[in-house]
Formats: sequence, structure tokens, C-alpha cells
Amino acid sequence: MNRHRILTGDRATGSLHLGHYTGSLANRVKLQYEYDTLVLIADVQALTTHFDRPAGVAAAVRALALDYLAAGIDPEVATIVVQSLVPAIAELTVFFSMLVTVNALRHNPTIKTEAAERGYSELTYGFLGYPVSQAADIAFCRAELVPVGEDQLPHVELARKVIRRFNELYRGRDGQPVLVEPRALLGPVPRLVGLDGRAKMSKSLGNSIDLADPPEVIREKVARAVTDPARVRATDPGHPEVCVVFTYRRAFRPAAELNETEQACRAGRVGCVECKRSLAEALVELLAPARERRARYQAKPGFITDVMVAGTARARRLGEETMAAVREAMSLDHFPRPAFEQEFVLRRQMPSLLG
Ligand code: TRP
Repeated sequence: MNRHRILTGDRATGSLHLGHYTGSLANRVKLQYEYDTLVLIADVQALTTHFDRPAGVAAAVRALALDYLAAGIDPEVATIVVQSLVPAIAELTVFFSMLVTVNALRHNPTIKTEAAERGYSELTYGFLGYPVSQAADIAFCRAELVPVGEDQLPHVELARKVIRRFNELYRGRDGQPVLVEPRALLGPVPRLVGLDGRAKMSKSLGNSIDLADPPEVIREKVARAVTDPARVRATDPGHPEVCVVFTYRRAFRPAAELNETEQACRAGRVGCVECKRSLAEALVELLAPARERRARYQAKPGFITDVMVAGTARARRLGEETMAAVREAMSLDHFPRPAFEQEFVLRRQMPSLLG
């Protein structure tokens, strides 16, 4: 069966949280039986900001693999890939970099934010170019769909543009395009805010609920979440529209219950403490299967390695197929590939040539 292909991934900078889960992880788990799903552990992309902490990135690679398996990525059907071990991604990044203007990168929202925070003088070439390498992540395996959160849409858009440009400029032997223009696939839930009400849930901001959090940590964190500041007593009328806990309810609870909670809050019939308690229990329950799988996989560290090795090996094969077509389309197939495989023959016949 020839299934359509999906690629997504995460930067190897830390473990995954509920924001990742609603943003794209839950979607991947659902789609993996329908699509040929590749999940990329983006360790090179992590280095764009963490180049001075390589050991941390290495630890995050394993943590991500375990998070994926715990979240329900099924190693029997999905392919977990370590980015740095796929040469095709690095090669395509170089070729794509000719097709993207510096201006297009400077207008990319992620780059813009970073530049505003740190200033262009601190911005590296690698960081500026990371949307280009992300385009290569998607292109190397000719993925058609990219399930991501909203924040990634500009990157997918850039990938579409680069790939379109590539296909206009270079054609396969049969005149057909060589690469596949991908489409973004947004999850059903808008981006989850942090426990502190900040727009972004992030482990480094200390406002996340992590997939690996044990029940008591989840309860503790939800208890600390920001609610309606105008509400002093449990009987004061609440304003769910400004409450972090309510946005989580919207993401995780069924609509009927949501209505009920909203009315009870507005009428001052349910207090924040009680509301948080029941939400925390719902989250503890939601993550119960992930906790169980985590414990199971944690006991088999060799298996986690095997899954990454097998997935990465498959990705390398896919990448080599793509690169053969890319080299041909770009007139970079200067001599037949088998020439390399016959190097040992040449070495015997003309040792002086090879040195
Ligand atoms: N930039 C993405 C993030 O921060 C991670 C990522 C790397 C990615 N390569 C990708 C996502 C390719 C989708 C497709 O979450």
C-alpha cells in the first residue's frame, strides 16, 4: 500500500508538554495509521540556539524519543528519525539556501522575534537559515503533509515557496517535478497558553505541564495556574474568557461539560479551587496511558535506541533516493554513482591517481 506521507518534528531542546500534545502530537498519533508518518528529532535545529550546550541536545534526543513512544507514536508503523544522521537534509539545506533571499528570512516571524530580542548582531547565519533547513526536513522524504501548531505556519509556507521554486528551476529526467510541495495540517485546538497566562507554554519559561509529569506534579501545577484576577471569593462571579484554566478546559473537556462549567463559574456557583481540582484529575487521567507506556519503554533503553536506529536508517534510504533525483535535476550527477563503489578497483589499477 502506498500511503501519503507526513513529516513533523520537534527541536531537541527539552521534553514535550501539553502544548506540543494539543498542537501536533495528538494529531500525529491519530494519523500514523493512515499516513506514512516520519517524526523528526531536530537536533541540528536545536543547535541553532543551543550550540554551546551539545550534551543537553544529546540528552534531549533520547528524551524526545521516549516522549514520542509514551505519547503513543507506534514504532511498528511510524518512523522516528534523528536529523543530524540524515546527510540528505544537510545537502538539501545548502541547495535550498540559494533559492531563499535574506529578506524573506528576516521577515519570518520566528526570526524577527529573536532578532528583536537579541539584536541582529547576535543572530547567527545558522539561526537565520533555520527555516531553510526546516524546508529540507520536509523535502528530503517528499512529505505531503506537515501537522504542526500555528506558530510553524510561516515555516511551512516558506518550505512551499522554496520547493515550488526548486521545481520550477530544475526538472527530473522525465520533465516532472522532483520535489513535493507540502501542506500544513493544523490541529483542532488553538495554541495552549502557559500556566502563567503567557501566550506560549514552554518548559524553559517554567509554565508548562510536561507529558512526563507525575500526577502530583500535575495537580500542583494546575493549582498554581492563573485564573480570573477579579475573583477573590469562590462566590464572586467569574470571567472564564480571561481564565487560563478555562482555556485548558476548552482544549481538553467535552463541549457539554464546558457550558456547564462556564455557567457555574459566571454565577459564582463553582470556585477556582474546585474547578482546578477537577481539571487536574481530568489531565491526570488523560495522561495515564502515556505514563504507563513511559514506564514500559523506560525499562527497555536498548529498544528506544533500536527504534531510532531503524527509523534513521529508513530516512537515510529515502533521502538518498531523493538526492539521486535532485542531483540529476541540478546537473550535479557528474559521473555515475557506481564509480564510487568501484573505487577499490581504481585504487588497484591507478594507485597514483587516488593517493
Ligand atoms: N521548528 C519546529 C518546532 O520548533 C520543529 C521542526 C523541525 C519541524 N523540523 C520540522 C516541524 C519539520 C515540522 C516539520 O517545533
